[in-house]
Amino acid sequence: MSPTASRAPLTVPGVRARKVRTGSEPLVMVTAYDAPGARMASEAGVDLILVGDSVAMVVLGYDDTLQVTVDDLAHHTGAVARAKPDCVIVADLPWMSYHVSVEDTVRNAAALIRAGAVSVKLEGGRKRLPMVHALVDAEIPVMGHLGLTPQSMHAMGGFKVQGKTHEAALELVDDARALAEAGCFAIVLEGVPDEVAAMVTDAVDVPTIGIGAGPVCDGQVLVFHDVLGIEDRILPKFVRRYASLKADGVEALGAYAADVRSGRFPSADESYHLAGSVAETLGLYGSGRAAG
Ligand code: KIV
Repeated sequence: MSPTASRAPLTVPGVRARKVRTGSEPLVMVTAYDAPGARMASEAGVDLILVGDSVAMVVLGYDDTLQVTVDDLAHHTGAVARAKPDCVIVADLPWMSYHVSVEDTVRNAAALIRAGAVSVKLEGGRKRLPMVHALVDAEIPVMGHLGLTPQSMHAMGGFKVQGKTHEAALELVDDARALAEAGCFAIVLEGVPDEVAAMVTDAVDVPTIGIGAGPVCDGQVLVFHDVLGIEDRILPKFVRRYASLKADGVEALGAYAADVRSGRFPSADESYHLAGSVAETLGLYGSGRAAG
C-alpha cells in the first residue's frame, strides 16, 4: 500500500490479530515524541507509534532511559496525540512507574491514557504479571517488552544482547507465553539472537515486534531519530538509516547563516512593505514597492 492510500483505522484488537504465520503483513512501529513526528509517521502509513522512554536519550539529552517520569511521558504523549495520527499510540511506562505497586501502575498508566495513548508498554517478564493483570482489568491494553530491556541496564551490566544461552532462550519463551496469557496484546523483543526471536514468535499467539531481534518477528520497531539519521553519533548494528536529516539540517542551517551574514536574507520578497502613499507621507520617495 502506498503511504498516502487510505486504510481502515487500526485498533488494539486489530494489532493483536496480526500474526505473520496467519498471512498478516508485518506490523510497522516507530517511535515519535511530538506532533510533527506523529504526522510524519501517520502520513508514511506506520501502524503504531511508540512514545518511548527513549525520549530521554534522543530528545532530552540523558545517557539512559531511567531519567524520565510519567509526567515527561504524558507531556510527549499529549503532543503526539494532538496530531491525531492514524496509528495506534503506545506510551512507555517509565522506570519506577510500575515497580512499586499495582495501584501505582494503574494510576500511572491511566495518566498516559488520559494524555492520549490507547495502550501502554512495560518491560519485563513473569515478575510483571500482577501489573499486567491489573492493567488488563482496568481496560488498559498492555504491550510487553522482553530481551534487552533498557530500564534494567544496571542489573544487566549494560546494553547487552539477551537470551544467548540455552537456559536464557527458554526463559524468554516462558516469559513471552506468560505475558501473552496474561493479556498483553503484543510483545516487543529487543536485542536477542534471531533464532530466539523466532522461537518466541512461534510460541505465542500475539504479535512480536522486533528491534535487534532479526527478521522472524511479526513486526519491527525502530527509533525515529535513528531511521531518519537525526541521531548520527552512534549506529547500532540493528539500525538501518533511511535519511540523513542531521547532515541535511546542518547544511541547511549553515546556508541560512551564510545568507544572513552576507545580507542575502531576507530579500525584498521576504519582507513586508508600506503602501506607496504611506511611504510618501513619510518622505520615503521612490521606494516604488507595493504593500505586502
Ligand atoms: O523507548 C523505546 O524507544 C523503546 C523501543 C526501543 C522499543 O522501548
